[in-house]
Amino acid sequence: MSLEQNLAAGYDQFALAYLQARAEGKLLNDYIEVPEMINTVGDVEGLRLLDVGCGSGIHLQQYVAKGAKAAGIDISKVMVELAQKENPAARIIHGSVYKLPFNEACFDIVTSSLALFHVEELGRAFLEISRVLNREGRLVYSDLHPFGYSEIPAVGNKFVENELLPGFMFPHWRRGVGYHTEKWTETGFQLTGFKDCYPSQQLRAVNHKAYEIRSAFPLFCIYSARKINQ
Ligand SMILES: C[S@@+](CC[C@H](N)C(=O)[O-])C[C@H]1O[C@@H](n2cnc3c(N)ncnc32)[C@H](O)[C@@H]1O
Repeated sequence: MSLEQNLAAGYDQFALAYLQARAEGKLLNDYIEVPEMINTVGDVEGLRLLDVGCGSGIHLQQYVAKGAKAAGIDISKVMVELAQKENPAARIIHGSVYKLPFNEACFDIVTSSLALFHVEELGRAFLEISRVLNREGRLVYSDLHPFGYSEIPAVGNKFVENELLPGFMFPHWRRGVGYHTEKWTETGFQLTGFKDCYPSQQLRAVNHKAYEIRSAFPLFCIYSARKINQ
């Protein structure tokens, strides 16, 4: 089994537990990454938007509500089913970022929330995203913050595998900003923004300790880039 197949099987198996943790308000993402990402992506009214690694489609719901003509793609069949159920107005496809089943230049913006850290060949993923983006299209994606975990510094391109939920191994890459920059340069993207994700006030009420820690050490960050003509 390839790493990607393993990962898809893991998300297939744990999709419902992930959803359950979300429903119980236990996913820090919902108080940190989701609001910051939606805010950073901004106005999407009328835009053709693709969410890569869309998971159960929580971001897609908000993009659709804000008027985007949205599509999503994910390697986990179970996640795709959940996302389609939650987002009847969006087209959700089972597939990989390496091979997007879309024509050239058919999106104005590609978003990706906490998914590209699972992708081994980041440059190859950027090239494929660039192909489906129009001229000067935007790429906005979130990642684990390079300084979010002091025990695993993100320098270069480090493979890490840890247990996300009991029994769910979580292979991902801890990457430094320098590594991302190298890949944008190679694939024709230019950085337009970098954001540390701070927790929303809601987290303060729900989990005060996590709020304090993640206000001091941001868990996630968001990169915004624009396709440049070459
Ligand atoms: C941490 S989850 C995030 C899901 C969703 N974006 C969210 O924030 O709720 C990562 C997602 O990326 C998907 N994924 C991982 N590698 C992928 C790839 N090569 N192509 C498309 N999706 C991928 C996984 O199946 C999983 O649903």
